[in-house]
Amino acid sequence: MSIHNIRKEVMKTLESKIHGFVDDFLIPIEKIWQPSDFLPNSQNENFIEEVKEIQEISKELNDDFWTVLIGDTITEEALPTYESWLMELDGVEQDPENGWSKWVRAWTAEENRHGDVLNKYLYLSGRVNMREVEISTQHLIADGFDIGTSTDPYKNFVYTSFQELATYISHNNVAKIARKKGHKLLARMSKIIAGDEMRHHKAYTAFVKEIFKIDPSEMMLAFEKMMKHKIVMPAMHLRESFNTKGSLFNDFSTVAQRVGVYTGFDYVDILRKLNEAWEIDKITGLTAEAEKARDYLMKLPDRMYRITERIVIPETQFNFKWMIPA
Ligand SMILES: [Fe+2]
Ligand SMILES: [Fe+2]
Repeated sequence: MSIHNIRKEVMKTLESKIHGFVDDFLIPIEKIWQPSDFLPNSQNENFIEEVKEIQEISKELNDDFWTVLIGDTITEEALPTYESWLMELDGVEQDPENGWSKWVRAWTAEENRHGDVLNKYLYLSGRVNMREVEISTQHLIADGFDIGTSTDPYKNFVYTSFQELATYISHNNVAKIARKKGHKLLARMSKIIAGDEMRHHKAYTAFVKEIFKIDPSEMMLAFEKMMKHKIVMPAMHLRESFNTKGSLFNDFSTVAQRVGVYTGFDYVDILRKLNEAWEIDKITGLTAEAEKARDYLMKLPDRMYRITERIVIPETQFNFKWMIPA
């Protein structure tokens, strides 16, 4: 049997659990928060005053902070890329009877609220050049991404387990900074987004855990391959107007690190948490090759920590077009 067919078989086996996954890790649509819950109500008489209040406190937060929030927003807004990528995985079919496509759609529907609420907040803040932000978003979606997983669900679920935790960390850190600066609305908003990301992280981690039960060696090898390849960020191709694909990503990532929203240490921490969540030290019945992969993975966090310690984050002041008044 080809590797694709084996993957499809395993995904088929797991399909019977999808309903449980949806119930355990997603929230019914009528019960979950919506962007409007966190934004001034435009049907209200006080709407303009509330917006003015947001604009006043928005001046308190510096350009680095807004740059990170914009990058995070654009990353969320590139959701069409992630949904279409996941729909291509072995075992995921557009067929309405396919359980996995149900999961992907329900997950996408929850995620869609993140970019929506953040985008509206940026617009109301009066601090950013929305047209430039929109151009970057359109570019990022047009550019797509390649996360090095191909259509392999094992590798993809490692990726999503990692990414959901990474986004949890960054939205949560944004919430902390915003709270410190008295930005209550933004703090509450980022906190609740972080809560969604944590649930999603738990879901994808549970999928991997199930696969470990059925196909431990192949799952271990997929995990190792993803870590050797390094987890690339979904905004890897980030750019601003009249610039080349990916030209903005490093600068954005530098700013995120010095603001403390998402750092190299967070990356290491996520690795450690994934090793723990999947209890890779306790998995039995591995081939010799998979045993080796496990050794590599167990040692990786400490090794990466030592490398991360030596990295110096530049203090360069970048002139992001997002921050220049139109
Ligand atoms: Fe999200
Ligand atoms: Fe997410």
